Amino acid sequence: MDRERLIRIFDRQAADYDRKREDPKQRRWRQKLIGSAQGEVLELAVGAGANFPFYPTDVRITAADFSSAMLERAEKAAHDHRLNADFICKDLEDMSFPAHSFDTIVSTLSLCSYRNPSGMLAKMNRWCKPGGTILLMEHGLGSRVLVTTLQRALNPLLYRIYGCHHTRDIIGLVRESGIQIRRAERYSLNMVHLIWAQPQEQQL
Ligand SMILES: C[S@@+](CC[C@H](N)C(=O)[O-])C[C@H]1O[C@@H](n2cnc3c(N)ncnc32)[C@H](O)[C@@H]1O
Repeated sequence: MDRERLIRIFDRQAADYDRKREDPKQRRWRQKLIGSAQGEVLELAVGAGANFPFYPTDVRITAADFSSAMLERAEKAAHDHRLNADFICKDLEDMSFPAHSFDTIVSTLSLCSYRNPSGMLAKMNRWCKPGGTILLMEHGLGSRVLVTTLQRALNPLLYRIYGCHHTRDIIGLVRESGIQIRRAERYSLNMVHLIWAQPQEQQL
């Protein structure tokens, strides 16, 4: 799908994402994960800022998304939660930061929508400081045959409606990227993954 169409799909869902921030299950997962953020934080594809209630108050956040409608809501959420945050409205797949810019990189429910998820994981690896933290809450292909069959059958339709793939092998993609998983938890029929990780050690 081309970028402009994808942006329109997410712009249209901004109000829904604003409401979904109240979902108790998601709040629990976000709280568990986001409390590990520290220092200079990059939040990728921030959406409506559903993670904002859970950041420690002393972090400095750079948040990016290509949907201006999502960012409007995220800016309001940052203000409500008194967070020190800057916002960038851009396609992350075309963006670059100097290597080792951030102490923490956060990506929640985003690997499903990138056109090149491996490319984005490589960027996380590069942009995170050595010994820094990469925090992921991502959904993908489950592990039970009945579930995965349904996911595969519905994926083309769901992608056209929501701009989001349901068949990505999250753990496989993260492992292939070289990112070092320190801790992982699975929920919702193993479709949702919470991952605490560190970047791969790299020679520049
Ligand atoms: C499923 S939503 C998740 C939002 C948020 N991370 C959360 O946890 O609620 C996916 C978000 O990724 C953004 N997005 C998808 N592809 C992007 C890209 N290439 N560059 C920037 N933002 C992107 C969409 O605009 C949308 O806000």
